[in-house]
Amino acid sequence: MESRSRFDMLMKRSAWKEEIAGSDYGLLANAYEVALNADKGLIIKGGVGVGKTHFARALYPEAIFTDCASRDDVARLASMSNFGDRRYGDMILDDVGSEEPQNEYGIKRENVAEHIMWRYLLMMKKKFNPNIVTIGKLIITTNTDLSRYGERVTSRLAEMCIPVELTGKDKRTWTTLPKG
Ligand SMILES: Nc1ncnc2c1ncn2[C@@H]1O[C@H](COP(=O)(O)OP(=O)(O)OP(=O)(O)O)[C@@H](O)[C@H]1O
Ligand SMILES: [Mg+2]
Repeated sequence: MESRSRFDMLMKRSAWKEEIAGSDYGLLANAYEVALNADKGLIIKGGVGVGKTHFARALYPEAIFTDCASRDDVARLASMSNFGDRRYGDMILDDVGSEEPQNEYGIKRENVAEHIMWRYLLMMKKKFNPNIVTIGKLIITTNTDLSRYGERVTSRLAEMCIPVELTGKDKRTWTTLPKG
């Protein structure tokens, strides 16, 4: 299936509205097309409420979902066996950078960064011997600077993901009650 029609189909299925997404819709469609053709994932950047999470879920409905703002989710990342064979599938890391570094026996850990590195290593294995392992895409949403993970992690992300920055408004709005 053509990547653009696949994009439209997935968006429709997830009840996304093109008029609400505005110019972000075209940005996303382009990024998705490039990512699909390059066999890469996505890094979706953008402000609060712009639609990052829903976009990620809509486009990668089969992916494991990890909320980096959830301590339990981030802790679970450290033990990949918890995910069974699905650990090799697509992974959404939502709100990357919103988590505090973890603490294991007094030693600082960065489970999210470690997970990114693990996926990169598997991707390299696959590149040199495609029969060894299959590894899905990494889909990241964030609205913070990820440089705290260090240059090596951001460099690897550049090879694994296509970046797209959403520029729309916060889609969450207060309801105005009618005057009683
Ligand atoms: N194009 C759209 N059509 C319909 N609903 C949308 C659209 N974009 C966003 N929404 C809705 O707006 C709300 C905010 O979207 P979402 O949670 O994806 O934002 P976010 O960028 O992940 O925000 P945060 O930075 O707080 O995590 C959700 O209820 C989502 O369903
Ligand atoms: Mg979100």
